[in-house]
Amino acid sequence: MVSASAPLVHLNNAGSALPSAQTLRVQIEHLQAEATIGGYEAHAAQADAIGGVSASVAQLLNTTPEQVALVESATVGWDRALQAVFYSDPPAAHQRILVASTEYASNVLPLMQVANRTGASVEFIPDGPDGSTSLEALKDMLDENVWLVSITHAPSHNGVVNDVVGVGDALRFSGSSAWYLVDACQSVGQLPVDFARIGADAVSATGRKFLRGPRGTGFVAVSHRLLHDVEPFPLDLHAATWTGRDTYEIQPTARRFESWETSYAAVLGLGAAVDQALDLGIDVIAASISALAEQLRVGLAIIPGITVQDRGTHQSGIVTITVPDPGAAAMVVALREHGINTSLSTADYAPIDFSARSITEQVRLSPHTYLDAADIDRTLAVIAELVGSRSKS
Ligand SMILES: Cc1ncc(COP(=O)(O)O)c(C=O)c1O
Repeated sequence: MVSASAPLVHLNNAGSALPSAQTLRVQIEHLQAEATIGGYEAHAAQADAIGGVSASVAQLLNTTPEQVALVESATVGWDRALQAVFYSDPPAAHQRILVASTEYASNVLPLMQVANRTGASVEFIPDGPDGSTSLEALKDMLDENVWLVSITHAPSHNGVVNDVVGVGDALRFSGSSAWYLVDACQSVGQLPVDFARIGADAVSATGRKFLRGPRGTGFVAVSHRLLHDVEPFPLDLHAATWTGRDTYEIQPTARRFESWETSYAAVLGLGAAVDQALDLGIDVIAASISALAEQLRVGLAIIPGITVQDRGTHQSGIVTITVPDPGAAAMVVALREHGINTSLSTADYAPIDFSARSITEQVRLSPHTYLDAADIDRTLAVIAELVGSRSKS
């Protein structure tokens, strides 16, 4: 019998990771300062540290602080880029929007709205044999009518890492002027994400997942043309200044994509998390997460009744399985009762990919550096026991 009182095994880092003690401390200290001296005064006292957070994020993504906007989630970062492009350079009815078949639903939904409003079409780029977005298929689809290409670097539900550098190269070599948006929500913090090499117009991510930052934080890095050739919509008085009766001036940096109000405690927590990731080294983090994910995949594959559903030649720290009756939702609950956090991954997050693989729901397990091989062994033992007891009943 596996002990139910062992320490927590948090395998839901693709949902929201455990922040470090240091990340928690800087947030609590700032909240205490807000309660003691006032919110605006606490902000002023920490102005340098707050300004440094964009620089830390820029270092993480290999870009400049002027190209980084701090926002409240990955979706908001991605949306800000789309809003600017749609406001200043909307597609014509004959234009095409290309998205990965594994694209995250929150990215596809507004693109479908753009298509409905303009007559443009949304087309899905087929996957290659390994389940990642096919560069060959993309190259065949590219023509002068492609308005925008959207790719998720590490989809949230199938273990794949898409070749976002290859997509950027394909766009450049073809001479395409299509806007290129990359959702790096699940890759930032666990894999190197190099904005300069990807060559995208926007790379968005969240703080709370593999970066171990606070909830309610996110950011987007933007290209020079997204910064200078289009206008964010709508602007607020942090993003622009009202200079005359009918005139305004937009901030020259990516601050133009930010909002006036934000949680500065959370921003400081994000900065602490990014600095810790930089200190540890993304390559070290990537190697540790990859080894734990591999241990999970190998161990899960030999448990009767479990099917590892991950695809991709290059895989992320996201491990997905289908399980026997009573199904994935019940397995997530049972694991939680054993002190093991996982999450339920359902078809509505990426319906094209789920239906192509005839899957409706799966259990997602996503390790992080604060776990070790013994935690994975315990998880495998609990899952084997749960599946065994299910098949007997
Ligand atoms: C691939 C991917 N993109 C975007 C998001 C949305 O992130 P946020 O909730 O920070 O907007 C998620 C969240 O799980 C995700 O997995």
